[in-house]
Amino acid sequence: MEQYAINGGIPLVGEVEIGGAKNAALAILAASVMTDETVLVENMPDVRDTNILLQAMQSIGVHVERLDRHTVKINASSIQTMVIEDDFIKKIRASYYLLGALLGKYKKAAVALPGGCNIGSRPIDQHIKGFKALGANVQIAHGLISTEAEVLKGNHIYLDVASVGATINILMAAAMAEGQTIIENAAKEPHVVDLANFLNSMGANIKGAGTDVIRVRGVQKLHKTEYTIIPDQIEAGTFMFAAAATKGDVTVKSVIPKHLESITAKLIEMGCEVKESDDAVRVVASKPLKNTHVKTTYYPGFPTDMQPQITVTLGLSRGTSIVTESIFENRFRYVDELTRMGASIKVEGNTAIIDGVSKYTGASVTAPDLRAGAALVIAAMAAEGMSVVDDIHYIQRGYEDFDVKLRSLGAQIEKVDSERQLQKFRLKIG
Ligand code: EPZ
Repeated sequence: MEQYAINGGIPLVGEVEIGGAKNAALAILAASVMTDETVLVENMPDVRDTNILLQAMQSIGVHVERLDRHTVKINASSIQTMVIEDDFIKKIRASYYLLGALLGKYKKAAVALPGGCNIGSRPIDQHIKGFKALGANVQIAHGLISTEAEVLKGNHIYLDVASVGATINILMAAAMAEGQTIIENAAKEPHVVDLANFLNSMGANIKGAGTDVIRVRGVQKLHKTEYTIIPDQIEAGTFMFAAAATKGDVTVKSVIPKHLESITAKLIEMGCEVKESDDAVRVVASKPLKNTHVKTTYYPGFPTDMQPQITVTLGLSRGTSIVTESIFENRFRYVDELTRMGASIKVEGNTAIIDGVSKYTGASVTAPDLRAGAALVIAAMAAEGMSVVDDIHYIQRGYEDFDVKLRSLGAQIEKVDSERQLQKFRLKIG
């Protein structure tokens, strides 16, 4: 099993290119099946999640031509089935985006039910509510969620929670429904806007994405397009907090600073110097980190996908900090691992009370999920001495060349998959 071997205590310094947004790419790749013409997608991150979704699409007959790591040509004119097999949904929940896409285009679809995952139960009741509001029948049987409609008719849909996934799935189905759909209490994340822009580039008629109310006028047909995915604000934020935790000086490049505002604001509260330019943000952490408090919430608030990264960093700040996780019910599982590195954090329900310590010490830890795994790597890079992070397949789901990019910033990190390689790394660091 691959692991990251890390020798910590080295400030990260330098510049790093940020890739395409994973969570925008998953929605856009799924939506590309809504036309019979060819779609070209650029700046796609080459990560496990996008590669598995492309495999799921190929499994139903979609033609996928990989021009390079980050560019793919898709043609869905010869789809053979609307049923997405179990093993794909088990690997990535976002396979369920094909429900909204196939329902919109073919008025029927079936996907294995996504299970819960390591950060919470992850219900899909709002997705189902939206499909039913558009006139589709939805059945759950034998672990499969099936939906179909004679005709999809636009409707006024009020989401009970500003769910990203439900907004995306409903948006795709509504894009080819008859008449107008209004989605109230819609998610406003940048990747929802990116999907709306992608669909509009194919001839859809979507207004208001990025606000609480999205208005869609359904169209009969969508056509070909060439589209470039937005930068990944969570990958960028992860490197920004890695700079803070290691007392470094890192510039994240090819980003949209506006998407990073809540992350930048917290880093400034913690005493970092943050300089923005058109498509880059520089984080300099030369002073001791200050404590602060944060509550994760929907965009443009502080993102839940950055909660482990800020918690790890606050664990090294002076004073007591409070982090409240208001989106998922079980997203502090990594704190037990962090305690092994010397953190002093008490989790009570969805709140973490953090007493800053002067340093972490290297240890062997296990990544419990994607973002917590990245946060444990940050802790290991800040820690004194050697760490090993296990189960890094979670991290590879959403971070492309994570160790390569960190090494380019001076980190002593290597991917190892044997005791011998681990020993070699130990000898190398001396
Ligand atoms: C997306 O998950 C992201 N995944 C998650 O990123 C991210 O953490 C999350 O949005 C919040 O920003 C992808 O985009 C592939 P939600 P999603 O529906 O769509 C409740 C990562 O690290 N809810 O916005 O599943 C739900 O329980 C991943 O890249 C319902 O109650 O999140 C949660 O409490 C992790 N009913 C809240 O809404 C529903 O039908 C927000 O979930 C749907 C959701």
